[in-house]
Amino acid sequence: MPRIALTREVSDAIARCELTHIARQPIDVRRARAQHAEYEAALRELGCRVERVPAAPEFPDAVFVEDAAIVFSELAVIARPGASSRRGETESVARALSAYRRVVPIREPGTLDGGDVLVAGRTAFVGRSTRTNDAGIEQLRRAVSPLGYTVVPIPVTGCLHLKSAVTEVADGVLVFQPDWVAADFFRGFEAIPVAAGELYGANALRIGDRVIYPAGFPKTAEQLAERLADRAVSLRLVEADELAKAEGAVTCCSLVFDA
Ligand code: GLY
Repeated sequence: MPRIALTREVSDAIARCELTHIARQPIDVRRARAQHAEYEAALRELGCRVERVPAAPEFPDAVFVEDAAIVFSELAVIARPGASSRRGETESVARALSAYRRVVPIREPGTLDGGDVLVAGRTAFVGRSTRTNDAGIEQLRRAVSPLGYTVVPIPVTGCLHLKSAVTEVADGVLVFQPDWVAADFFRGFEAIPVAAGELYGANALRIGDRVIYPAGFPKTAEQLAERLADRAVSLRLVEADELAKAEGAVTCCSLVFDA
């Protein structure tokens, strides 16, 4: 069964992206595109078939396809982004996903960003954030609890999305930023804190036994490599600092799932 990674090219308008917790600084679009191409190359190297959804130059944040949907084995939930500037991004992603999954939309008054949903086994942790509200979380629960998923809301403060604060790096193993999320929510998991000074180091993209991880957090990378070695999980480092200026990270730039 092929593993698909949906991506989308960096918008010409990325300089006008949404920013919530970081200050605006110039973004070099060529550099962002080069890093994005390296990221797509890493996805291919790790066995994914990269499928680009149509470019959306009118949407500054369109490269961050993760926020448009949450793909479960059984269905895809189409998000309703909390930022109104991003709502138009979902239609083309839903069209692409409908080739692989039944799609279920989040509807008004719900808002839900895919970046707020961390699926670990049959648990979907959902950040209650500036982008995701209780109605969105409840609609997600109704869509996936009949399939055997438990939906666990988690308050998110200090960062944009739940997955800015915590991601899964191996079965039952998380990397997290203790300033933004409490480890208590993840009982039963081994939770590895980011290294001191590496504020944004908790966003990692696990694909099987490899983890795409930003080269800009070397101390956390070293810790993860050590802790994951006996599980035969290893890191694939990528440069990701240009899109980080748009408050995006490695999970944000793809939707990875088995076809
Ligand atoms: N710039 C990413 C977001 O705010 O959605």
